[in-house]
Amino acid sequence: MTPRKLSARLARVAAQVPAGARLADIGTDHGYLLVALMSRGLISAAVAGEVALTPLRAAERSVREHQLGERIAVRLADGLAAIEPADRITAISFCGMGGETIRDILARDKARLGGNERLILQPNGGEQPLRQWLMDNGYRIHHEELLRENRFFYEIIVAEPGEPMRYTEQQLYFGPLLLQARGPVFAAKWQRLLRLKQQTLTGLARAGQGVIDEKLEQQVRWIGELFASNGGSADLKWSCRTMPISAPDESVDPPPPRSVPRRG
Ligand SMILES: C[S@@+](CC[C@H](N)C(=O)[O-])C[C@H]1O[C@@H](n2cnc3c(N)ncnc32)[C@H](O)[C@@H]1O
Repeated sequence: MTPRKLSARLARVAAQVPAGARLADIGTDHGYLLVALMSRGLISAAVAGEVALTPLRAAERSVREHQLGERIAVRLADGLAAIEPADRITAISFCGMGGETIRDILARDKARLGGNERLILQPNGGEQPLRQWLMDNGYRIHHEELLRENRFFYEIIVAEPGEPMRYTEQQLYFGPLLLQARGPVFAAKWQRLLRLKQQTLTGLARAGQGVIDEKLEQQVRWIGELFASNGGSADLKWSCRTMPISAPDESVDPPPPRSVPRRG
């Protein structure tokens, strides 16, 4: 991946950035997203925020190599501390971090948000608690997508402050718009997860320790219902019988977020 050739994941994130946005990319690492968007004239201002020194240096290098030093501010900062009011940021991206990490940054630094920014989120797992935070804090989910790249599934969630929304527990778990659309990648992801979670439950039962994981059992029930229901809906074209069963592997969740070195 380079700024010229973004990964499919970052290209899909880039597509959600409004033209002319003033974008802050938190946890920017190499800074490719901002460099790609700025090089193509798709954003008007950019802040690259990064908490760790080595990725910060990588972002500085990308920006320098593309002669964008005047247009992209690279800042060593924890979370939204990278943003200053004078930046007049209109959109913020968080990509490749755990959903709980993104939620914690938003919760901790909420006062730093102007109140109108579009949030473009690509969590690596932890989507449910992230959606819960969005709902509890007056955000409406405008767009969701799920893609598969190099064996991993990635969700992208785009939210803006708006009319308060109440999502059900299942909507928070599956994604309200992903659940509505039920595309083939969604079916593949949840079929895979269903099998793995069922295997875990079987393992727990075999261990015979009387361990009951109610949360896991509930998730298995919800996923099973997705596949079992025909609900009279024409959208439910897929079922356990029609989806090919793929070999077990570790590709359900994206790779875990890198551990974050603490600033000394
Ligand atoms: C796995 S990388 C993802 C890089 C890039 N956003 C992408 O999606 O390709 C996550 C980055 O987030 C940074 N990060 C983690 N917590 C952060 C925080 N609180 N504030 C700023 N950056 C953070 C890490 O140092 C790391 O460089």
